Amino acid sequence: MNEEQNRLLTRVGPGTSMGALLRRYWMPIAGVSEFDSRSTKPVRLFGENLVLYRDLSGNFGLVDRRCAHRRADLSLGMVEKCGLRCHYHGWAYDQTGQCVSQPFEDTTMPERNTKAGIAIKAYPVQTKGGLVWAYMGPAPAPQLPDWEPFSWDNGFVQVVVSEVPCNWFQCQENSIDPVHFEWMHENWGKHLREGTGAAPAPTHLKLAFEEFEYGFVYKRVKEDTTEADSIWTVGRVFLWPNGFFLGEHFEWRVPIDDENTLSITWKYTRVPNDRPRYVQQCIPTWHGPLKNADGNWIDTHVMNQDFIAWVGQGTIADRTEERLGTSDRGIVMVRRRFFDEIERIARGELPKGSIIDPAKNTRVELPIADRESVLEGYTSGQIMAHPFLRMMFTSYVFQAGQPDSVKQQFSDAMGLETQEFAGLDALRKR
Ligand code: FES
Ligand SMILES: [Fe+2]
Repeated sequence: MNEEQNRLLTRVGPGTSMGALLRRYWMPIAGVSEFDSRSTKPVRLFGENLVLYRDLSGNFGLVDRRCAHRRADLSLGMVEKCGLRCHYHGWAYDQTGQCVSQPFEDTTMPERNTKAGIAIKAYPVQTKGGLVWAYMGPAPAPQLPDWEPFSWDNGFVQVVVSEVPCNWFQCQENSIDPVHFEWMHENWGKHLREGTGAAPAPTHLKLAFEEFEYGFVYKRVKEDTTEADSIWTVGRVFLWPNGFFLGEHFEWRVPIDDENTLSITWKYTRVPNDRPRYVQQCIPTWHGPLKNADGNWIDTHVMNQDFIAWVGQGTIADRTEERLGTSDRGIVMVRRRFFDEIERIARGELPKGSIIDPAKNTRVELPIADRESVLEGYTSGQIMAHPFLRMMFTSYVFQAGQPDSVKQQFSDAMGLETQEFAGLDALRKR
């Protein structure tokens, strides 16, 4: 890969081709429940400083961080029934960014209505699945995908938000990288706990990569699986353009700027079948730290290990220096697709996976390995008898830092005692 190609894939700020492509899709940017305890949140997306707020009518807005008047920070502003008011001299803006109040001018020369000619940048926002989504591309916006899991019931959903200090594209390449699972999460996880010399995890024997309407799938056969397993017949989803979908959980890698990525996880866990039907009152959002109090990187949980790998590739991985192997066929496929899609939007065409027709946007299905068991669920007895299920239902394996309050809500929903996650490799000892 040459330098120009690497730039094309990684640079996302205003005026860049990749930024323009990604802005054609709705991006998850926060958890709705973050706004139970705050009304504004400073956010940075695609190199733009913005403020996300929920006003007193419950509507979200995403506007420029700076007030049009004298550039005060609107994340310090006050939400009103409809919109956000600057804390400095009280100018107020609605969801479209239109200035709707200029207290001094409105009082002293109302006939001039100067506010009519003043607006700040604003982007459309919607909520779905307990997430706040933004669309930062040209109008008209496509549909915000109604992925099937967002309407699953009788389950507990949690949202985890982290900021990862590296470029978005190396994070997203991980979504089409099956072999890292064996090494990073199994062998390295074990090495961290037990040192070198432990028995290696079952190795990958065979890989396949395929494209479909909403992304790509990878398929694997390992020493401990066969071609009859759903991880080969169905696979895992690289969700175009910046998501990863594993059946009961989504991960998105949203560009903050060229050098930082917002990681958003949406995780559903079905309540055991022998429990009363569960109705979740509120989807909790929690912040997943990357480092311990002592400043060391947290390496105990699945995505924390991924974060370490991504940041370790460099702030913006230098692909001019890499040597791809045969396990990277999927990575080559998605890079080519990105180059093609950049050209496609330059020609004025709709990019891959855009959902335009609202009639097509109901419970949109994605490939799910083990779809039956995901939809049918398990009894508490089945869960506790099976080491992997027991781990998934009694701890949060993906990221460190789950607050006690969320642990408690989860445990109450599942009717099972929670435990500390001991590492994927710990399973193999049983
Ligand atoms: S700077 Fe915002 S009202 Fe003056
Ligand atoms: Fe991973």
